[in-house]
Amino acid sequence: MEKLTGLNKFKTAVFISGTGSNFKNLIRFSKIKKSPISINLVISNLDKAKGLIHANKFKIKKKIFNFHNIIHTENKILTLLKKEKIKFICLAGFMKILSKNFIKRFNGKIINIHPSLLPKYKGLNTHHRALINGDKFTGCTVHYVTEKLDSGKIIMQKKIKIDDKDTLISLTKKVLKQEHKLYPAAIMKIFN
Ligand code: GRF
Repeated sequence: MEKLTGLNKFKTAVFISGTGSNFKNLIRFSKIKKSPISINLVISNLDKAKGLIHANKFKIKKKIFNFHNIIHTENKILTLLKKEKIKFICLAGFMKILSKNFIKRFNGKIINIHPSLLPKYKGLNTHHRALINGDKFTGCTVHYVTEKLDSGKIIMQKKIKIDDKDTLISLTKKVLKQEHKLYPAAIMKIFN
């Protein structure tokens, strides 16, 4: 990645489907001087995604795509990303799988956050799986997105202790808190 001067932050799009706590956190991070990215666009597959509220609040352009026809939708998204001069993509709780072609077009410039210590627990319900397996530790991972789900090169991970008293709710909360530290740290690592 090229070096930044602070004036030319990398224009970034965040893709979300849900609550958007990572999205909100990335917006906050993008506003600090040392952040290499600016958040210029949010894309969602759901117009009801709660996280879109942060787009309104921070005046970030938002676009909803229904993904009924993946190829057609991705082509529309690629056109939009080009128009908006987007150079980097952060997936943050985005529940659609991007095609090989889309990923290739943004080769090495799409990252994701996942709530487990990858390669353990790819896919959904990671905390539930960790709890029923009686794991002593879980964590979160920021990784590059490749065509194989949750399998791209790991950028950073944080290991988190699971306490005996942890429930699905407490563990989700605990991991999210660490995700909010890890995602910006991983972005800093990539651009340095
Ligand atoms: C996070 O746990 C993230 O790791 C996973 O989906 C969740 C999104 O949470 N990919 P939020 O919408 O950012 O609050």
